Amino acid sequence: MSRLTDLIASVKAKDPTLGADLDKEFKALSARLPFGLNFERHRPEAVELPLRTVRRGDKVRILPPRKTNDKGDQRLWSVTAINKSKGKASLKLINADAPEQKDVALEDLVVVAEFKDKIYPGLVSTGSVRRSDTKPAHTVINGENYHVLKALTFTHRGKIDVIYIDPPYNTGAKDWKYNNNYVERDDQYRHSKWLAMMERRLLIAKELLKPEESVLIVTIDEKEYLRLGMLLEQIFPEARIQMVTSLINPKGVARGQDFYRVDEYIYFVFFGSAAVTKLNDPMILTGKKNDNVDKTPKATAKKVRWGNLLRSGTDAKRSDRKHQFYPVFIDKVTGQLHSIGEPLLPVTANRNSVKAPDGTVAIWPIRKDGTEGRWQVGNVRLRELFGKGYASVGRFNGGDRVSFSYLTDNIIEQIDTGAISIINRDENGVVILAYTEEKESIENPKTMWNKTSHSASEYGTSLLRQFLPGRTFPFPKSLYAVEDTLKFFVARKPEATVLDFFSGSGTTAHAVMRINRQLGGRRQCISVTNNEVSPNEQENLLKAGYRPGDEEWEKLGICDHVTKPRIEAAITGKTPEGDDVKGNYKFTDEFPMSEGFEENAEFFTLTYEAKEAVNHNLAFKQIAPLLWLRAGAVGSRINNLSKRGWDVTETYGILSDIDQATPFVQCINEAENLRIVYIVTDDDRRFQAITRRLPKNVEPVRLYEAYLTNFSFANGE
Ligand SMILES: C[S@@+](CC[C@H](N)C(=O)[O-])C[C@H]1O[C@@H](n2cnc3c(N)ncnc32)[C@H](O)[C@@H]1O
Repeated sequence: MSRLTDLIASVKAKDPTLGADLDKEFKALSARLPFGLNFERHRPEAVELPLRTVRRGDKVRILPPRKTNDKGDQRLWSVTAINKSKGKASLKLINADAPEQKDVALEDLVVVAEFKDKIYPGLVSTGSVRRSDTKPAHTVINGENYHVLKALTFTHRGKIDVIYIDPPYNTGAKDWKYNNNYVERDDQYRHSKWLAMMERRLLIAKELLKPEESVLIVTIDEKEYLRLGMLLEQIFPEARIQMVTSLINPKGVARGQDFYRVDEYIYFVFFGSAAVTKLNDPMILTGKKNDNVDKTPKATAKKVRWGNLLRSGTDAKRSDRKHQFYPVFIDKVTGQLHSIGEPLLPVTANRNSVKAPDGTVAIWPIRKDGTEGRWQVGNVRLRELFGKGYASVGRFNGGDRVSFSYLTDNIIEQIDTGAISIINRDENGVVILAYTEEKESIENPKTMWNKTSHSASEYGTSLLRQFLPGRTFPFPKSLYAVEDTLKFFVARKPEATVLDFFSGSGTTAHAVMRINRQLGGRRQCISVTNNEVSPNEQENLLKAGYRPGDEEWEKLGICDHVTKPRIEAAITGKTPEGDDVKGNYKFTDEFPMSEGFEENAEFFTLTYEAKEAVNHNLAFKQIAPLLWLRAGAVGSRINNLSKRGWDVTETYGILSDIDQATPFVQCINEAENLRIVYIVTDDDRRFQAITRRLPKNVEPVRLYEAYLTNFSFANGE
C-alpha cells in the first residue's frame, strides 16, 4: 500500500512482536480522518442563563462583584440547598480534586447550561403583532440558538424548507462569544472554537430540514469560507454544495496591502430534489453589450386563460366549503370592487341577513340553477389577488349577478418563472398578460452576483435605520439580497417555512414578508437570536454596575432592542416611536414602507423547565407555545388547560382530561383544517383507543410522553 506498509512488513519478518506493535500504531493513526477538517471540539460548550431563577440541583457560576469588568470565577458549582428567606444558596464545587462548599447570595449566581446537559425547553410570549386573520405568524425567539434548535426538533423536525443563516464571521474583532467570552484575534483556538460552534448547530439544523427537498444557505466572508466549505462537506456528504460570490460593497474595504474586499460568499447546500427556481434574473451584469438591452420578454399570440371565481362541477355547493361562501361588494356607480366580506356561518345562515355597505351591492356565489355555491378561493386570498391585480370584476348591469375572473396558482407560477409576462395593467390595476415568446429569453441565474440592490450599507444599515431611527446593529444584510436569495427556493412554495437561527436584525423575516406580498402566499419565518449587547455597551453597563438579566441590560440586547422592534415596524409601517416609516421599497414591488404588511408575528423568549414540572402538568403555560408552533403557528393559542378538560382551536386540539374524550372527539370530527391533537395521558391503551376515533388526517401526539422522549433522547453534544 505504501512505503511504510512495506517497511512494517519487513520488520514483521525479522521481529514479529515489534512488527505487530508498529502495525497497530500505524493502523490507529491511519484510522484518524486522513483528509478533511480536523479540529478540537472544545467540550463542553456552555451558556449562562441570567434570566433563569436559581433552583436546587442547578449548575451555577459565581458572578464577579458589580462594577467590575473581570471574568470572575469560571468554576462550576452545584446548588445543594436554597434558603429563600436569607436569599442564599449552598454550593458544592463540581469536578474538584478537593471538595469545596460555600454559601453565596442568590443574586450573585448565574445558572449555567452545559450543552451536554439535557434541557426541557419552553417559551414565554413577550408580545405579538397581528394584521391578518388567517396567515400563520412569523415567530421570533430570544435564546441561545443551540437550545432553540433543540426545542425546534419537537416542533419542526423534518419540516423546514429553507434555512438561511449569516453567522458571526469570526473576524477577531469581538464579533461573537464562546462560553460567554469574546473570541479575539490572538486566540490561538479562534478557528477551532468557531468550527466547534458551527458544527454543533448545523448537526441539529440537519434534523429540521425536509430531507426530500430543502436548502441550507450560509453566508460567510474570507475569514472562514475555506473551513466552512469543508465543514459543510463533512456534515452533509449526501448534499450538493455550491458557492456563490456576491458583491456587497462596490467601494471595497481595505485589507492591508492586499486587494480591497468587495464581496462575500454564499454557500448553498441542496438536499433531495431541491433546485434553483428559474426567475428570469441572471443575477450578474456581465458588462456585455447585451446587459443594457431591453430584456422585456416579447409576447406571443396565445391567450392566457383566467379562471372563473364561481366554482362549478364537483364540490361546488356552499356546504362543500363553508368558508368560501362570502359576499363581494360592488360599487353601484362604478361597477368596480368595493370590498370583500367575511364567510357567512353557519351554513344555514341566510345571506339576506347581510347588509351591504351603502352604495354597494352584495354579489354571492350563486350557481346557474339558483342554488348557493361557493367561490374558488377564500376571502383573504381573494383580497390578495385583487390587491395584486390578479383578479377582476366582469360586467355589472345593476343586478346581483356579476362574474369574477382570477389567476389560478398555475398561471401565477408561470408569471414567477417568466413563462408568462405582465405586459401592462388596465385602468383598475388588473394585469394584462401574455405568454413569453422565446424560451431563450429566460435568463439562468449565475454563481456570481453583482446587483446594486445587494449593497449592505444602503439596503442593510441605512434601510434598518428607517425602521428603527437611532438604533444601531452591526452589519445587517441588504433586505433585497436576502429576498433574491430566498426567492430561488420559495417562489413556488407559498406555504414554505424558513428558519434563520442567527437572525440578528431580522432581515430574513422581513424578506419573507416581501416575498409573500409579491407572490401571494403564507410563507413563515422563524427567527432566532440571542439578547447580547454590543462589546461597547457591555463595558459601559458593567461599569455602571449592571449585569446580564437586569432590566437595564436586557432592554439593550439585540433581540429586544432590534430584532423584535424591526419586525414589528416592518409589519405596522410605524417606527417604535409611532411615526410612519419614511421611504419606499425599491427595485421590485415598490411601495411606501409605511404601508407595512398584512402579516402576523409572535415574540417569545426561551425558558428552561424542570422535567418533573413538565411531567406533572405544571409547566403547561411554557409548553403551550411549542404545541401551537408544531401545529403551524396559525390562529389562536391554547395558553391554559381548560376546566372542562379539552379545548380546540383552528389547527389543533388538546384533551387534558381523557374522561372527556367523547365531546372532544366529536368536536375534532366537525372541525376543518385541524392538524394535530394532543392528548395528555400516561395510559397508552386509552391513548390508542382515542386516536382510533380521530380523523385520518389529524396527527395524534401523546403528552408529555412525546415531549419528554424528544428531549430525553436528544443527542448531547
Ligand atoms: C451576523 S449577525 C446576523 C445579521 C442578520 N443577517 C441581519 O441581516 O441582521 C449574527 C447574529 O447572531 C447572533 N448570535 C450569535 N451567536 C448566537 C447564539 N449562540 N445564539 C443565538 N444568537 C446568536 C448575534 O447576536 C448576531 O445578532
